[in-house]
Order: sequence, then structure tokens, then C-alpha cells
Amino acid sequence: MSHQPSASVDRTDLPFSLGEGHTPLIRSRFIGPQAGLDQLHFKLESVNPTGSYKDRFAAAAINAMLRNGQTRVIASSSGNAGAALAAYCAAAGLDCEIAVVMLAPDSKLKQMQAYGARLTRIDGFGNDPDITERTMAFLKRLGDRPGAALQITAYRYCPIGMAGVEAISHELVEQAVAIGRRIEHVFVCAGGGGLGLAVARGFESAIRDRTLSHPPQIHCVQPQGNDTIAGPLRDGDLTARPCRSTTAISGLQVANVIDGNELLSACRASGGTGFLVTDERVYELQQLLAQKEGIFCEPAAAVGLAGALQAAQEGRLNRDAPVVCLITGSGFKDQTSLDRMVADQACPLLTLDAFQANHGGIS
Ligand SMILES: Cc1ncc(COP(=O)(O)O)c(C=O)c1O
Repeated sequence: MSHQPSASVDRTDLPFSLGEGHTPLIRSRFIGPQAGLDQLHFKLESVNPTGSYKDRFAAAAINAMLRNGQTRVIASSSGNAGAALAAYCAAAGLDCEIAVVMLAPDSKLKQMQAYGARLTRIDGFGNDPDITERTMAFLKRLGDRPGAALQITAYRYCPIGMAGVEAISHELVEQAVAIGRRIEHVFVCAGGGGLGLAVARGFESAIRDRTLSHPPQIHCVQPQGNDTIAGPLRDGDLTARPCRSTTAISGLQVANVIDGNELLSACRASGGTGFLVTDERVYELQQLLAQKEGIFCEPAAAVGLAGALQAAQEGRLNRDAPVVCLITGSGFKDQTSLDRMVADQACPLLTLDAFQANHGGIS
């Protein structure tokens, strides 16, 4: 069921929020020290209201729509942006229609549906650059209709919503004060590159506002099966390149360049570089984050960490350099990756007697 806007609510000057942002920065207890990084930190974007950093985008985008009197969201999503937009639309009484990438995990689809959004999965969308480009062009036409707005988490399409994501860096500038050191490196996973670009722009604006004197190096980390930005950045190329995406990491299956050129330039200007990681390594670190740090995240959220550990192994990071990895989405987002993570763990159903017998017969 989709929601119709309720005429009785005056929304003209409501700063509309579900409590997004102000996410914690947690120091690694195990993974960092073990890798020779004493100051490895995780920014837990997974604790946002719908479980990912995309809530920051949705809040900014929906506020703008309410100010403009627009009532219908047209969106494309791999799941997280859709869930965020669906939730904020539900709360604001806006209609929400989402075209979803072909390989979006079931749990993300259901979360979007739970908030009442209308969904369609499009064959080839996300994997095939041509179909992806044509789908985007069609969505743009739908979003241009009166009362509607296209919401895609990329500067190329929606700079207003993306400005909301820049707050990640503003918060990091404040949180660095608590660490007592300036942050030297930030590792960001990338699909279309919008997130990394928002982080870079957030630091650039902090420099302009004089709340920061030296920006950190921004490093772009991608799965090998979606090397649109990280490889070209590392190889010294000037532009990103489209690919045929083969990674299984949801959220990072973005065959097209989108914000890639701008992100590549911003990372390079900051002194950062690109890292490519295997899907296997990502699943391994998703599990390690859960079992050694108590951080429950989806696979995409472990990609930044995979890059940081690769950088440490290559000797690119000083032991005491403050390093931040963004944990971009919650573990609840991707049931398939959880099934894989716990495949060898049993949860037997026992009688109480059998349970007691397993504990040496203590009653
Ligand atoms: C959990 C998660 N992390 C990272 C990203 C990557 O963002 P971008 O496509 O802006 O690079 C996404 C995008 O959907 C995501 O869902």
C-alpha cells in the first residue's frame, strides 16, 4: 500500500527528521591492533534509523521536497537508498516508487515494502551499463513530471540530497577532537562514488569554514568485480570507467561511472588512492567485525576495512595514524550473507532435560 499525502498537515517549515546522523566513532579493539594499526576507528553508519548512511540523503531530499510542495518520489536503488526514502516518505506522507537493481537482496526489498514503497526490479539494471544508463534516463523523465522528484544517491542526479551525506565528515571533524588527533586516512567503499565524494566534499567545506586545517587522505575501495574508480585511481588514470559488474556485494554493483570521475579527482587531490578487494575477503571481514568487534554490518560495510588492511599490509599506514573506516550499513540488510556467515553453526532444538545433560546435569 502506498501513502497519499495528507492535506491536513502543514509541512512548510518542518525540519523533517527520523533521528539520522550523529553516529558513533568506535576504536577497534582487535582488528586494528592485530594489523599494526593502533588508531583504527569505525564510524557506525549502520545505526541510522533504517540501518544505513542513506538516511542522511533521504532526510535532506525529503525536506527539500516538502519545501517545494512535491509529493511523489521516483527512485532507483540497490536497497539502502530505497529503504531510507521509503521510510521518510512513509513518515512525511509522500508517495514512493522505486526501480530496484536486479540483484538486490531480499531483506532490502522487504524493508522497502514494509514502509509501503512500490517496487519493480529491472532485468540487467545495476549489472549492464547500457540497461542501467537507459533505466536512469527513463527514471529521470518520470521524475521530471509535476509534483514528482527523482531521488538517486549521486551528485550527478541529486546534489541536494547528497549534501546531507557530507555531514559524515563534519561529525568526524568534531569526533577527532575526542581522539585528540586529526584523522589522517578515511577508507570509503564505492559503487557509483557518491558516498566517497560526499565525504571528500564534507572535509573540503570544513577547510573552508576553518573547522579543519588538514583534510585526511580519502581512499576509495571497491570489489575487484566492480572496478570503475579504484583501479584507475591507483593506476594514475584521469577518469573512471564503466564495467560489467560481477561482484556479489550488494550496494556496490554499479556498472556505470556516475560520480566516479569527481571522486577519483577528489581522492587524488587528498593524497588518497584506490584499493581493490575480493568478495571472499569482504565476507571474511564482515564475520571478523561481528565476532571480534561486535559490529554487525552488511558486506559492503566491510569493504572500507578490507582496503585499510590492504594499505597496512603494503606499509602505507603508520602504526599510530588515526584511520577511519565507514561501516555503511547494518547486518540486517543482507540475510544471504548472514546465512553464509553462520552456515556451520548449529542451533539445535533440545528438550530441557537434554540441555541440562549437555551442561553436566546441573539442574
Ligand atoms: C551499504 C552501502 N555502502 C556503500 C554504498 C556505495 O555508495 P556509492 O554508490 O555512492 O559509492 C552503498 C550504495 O548503495 C551502500 O548501500
